[in-house]
Amino acid sequence: MNAKLVADAPEAVECQWLVTFIFDKEGGGVEPVGIAEVDAILNRLAGEKDVTGNSAELTVLHAVPGLKARSTLVVGLGKREKLEAGTAFAAGYAAAKRLSSKPRESVMVLPPDQISSVVASALVEGLTVGVHGPGLRKSEPSRQDFGSLGILAGADPTAARELTLTLAVRRGSIVGNAVNAARDAVNLPPAEKSPASLAHRLATLVSEAGGQAEIWDETRIRGEGFGGLLGVAAGSDEPPRFVVLEYKGDPDAPVLALVGKGVTFDSGGLCIKPAASMEDMKSDMTGAAVVAATIAAVARLGLPVNLRGYLPITENMTGGKAMKMGDVLTHRGGKTVEVLNTDAEGRLILADALAYAVEQKPARIVDLATLTGACMVALGTKIAGLFSNDDVLKDALLAACKQTGERAWPLPLDDDFKDQLKSHVADLKNIGGKWGGSITAAKFLQQFVGTTPWVHLDIAGPSWSDSDNTVRDPGATGCFVRTLVAFAEQSVALES
Ligand code: BES
Ligand code: MN
Ligand code: ZN
Repeated sequence: MNAKLVADAPEAVECQWLVTFIFDKEGGGVEPVGIAEVDAILNRLAGEKDVTGNSAELTVLHAVPGLKARSTLVVGLGKREKLEAGTAFAAGYAAAKRLSSKPRESVMVLPPDQISSVVASALVEGLTVGVHGPGLRKSEPSRQDFGSLGILAGADPTAARELTLTLAVRRGSIVGNAVNAARDAVNLPPAEKSPASLAHRLATLVSEAGGQAEIWDETRIRGEGFGGLLGVAAGSDEPPRFVVLEYKGDPDAPVLALVGKGVTFDSGGLCIKPAASMEDMKSDMTGAAVVAATIAAVARLGLPVNLRGYLPITENMTGGKAMKMGDVLTHRGGKTVEVLNTDAEGRLILADALAYAVEQKPARIVDLATLTGACMVALGTKIAGLFSNDDVLKDALLAACKQTGERAWPLPLDDDFKDQLKSHVADLKNIGGKWGGSITAAKFLQQFVGTTPWVHLDIAGPSWSDSDNTVRDPGATGCFVRTLVAFAEQSVALES
């Protein structure tokens, strides 16, 4: 879905649906929208407490006199002084989700006055993501893009408003579509995303956006010494792939390397998961999808930054050649690892990818992985665990999270956790003890990044949603595409 800017008065614009926003007014009632007929109705409804302006509250008004729009959807934004990107994203999402359940020819959205470009972009992102549902293989579509999505600037907008909204429409559409591309890749059934086909899909996403993509086959992967990726892939009939992505937006800028876990289905391997834990394991490639979608968005935006993406992609299965407990794998760079749990496979494939990424001497590395159930025990389903060896990079990522409203929380990487990874036969083993499982997993990864500033995001929780409500769809979320784009933008600001 691509939004476009429309300079017209909300009363005069011809459309099927007009979407407007209201704020919860200090001391009761709602702030006026600025359309007399709509405000008269809203005042009455607010007096009866049927409308509050609470965040993502939806109110439908049909055939408001004086408006050309057939129906009006009024969306709450909470208190004006608390308006931030997260609220705007949710409001846009709620409106688009509600309207996209039926075919709509034309939807016109009137953003509130005086919003920043960050908030306006988040609103467009929310509209773009909210229109798109998870029902990829439904025989009758359950959600549909609008015939057209207009962002209304007003009849005679000030230059400032026009500029803010022009930028927001472009950025919000690009970022929102990238989030949807990540969601689609994750929502795809596992039979439709063999490592070869997922690699092709993600490489194409980036190359169509103007970046470069290279796909390594199994022979190349063996030649490069990626023993972790080969070990995990051994139990599958499908050969692994390794994807290298690149976007060069400025030859002189430092390189940010993004590494994403790409397990297309995690059965657990011989340490097989119980059925209930395996249900969502087609989503174990979210990190890879998010990295590719981020690079595609940054390429489309044409940001003056340099990104590289490294995606180890494989299934984790139980075939006759599957790795066994006690097997020892040799990673890129020569470190050996004793496999004591075949379900701790993510760290095995990430080890090769991180070691390889570090060899290319990037300035910073961020990896994203649906790595541990333990991280969900710690932080729940909506907050990612953030681990880092560098406080400046950590704070920069948290600042980007603050800008988008996506949530991550720092967890420790204290050195004593490394003791749990000692093996009697190899350099490391791939599991720690019973407690602090997301920390031992991160500690394992740290052994492969050396001194390069690095952040690891454990996205096991936020990658997937079980809830289906006004501001959320079930299934893949495409989490952290928005934040990584904001992070790339902020790094431009920091360096110049
Ligand atoms: N892909 C899982 C982690 C996961 C769990 C992601 C739930 C999303 C939702 C990962 O490969 C895994 O199986 N981790 C194990 C590690 C353990 C064997 C040390 C886990 O969390 O149980
Ligand atoms: Mn696993
Ligand atoms: Zn996994």
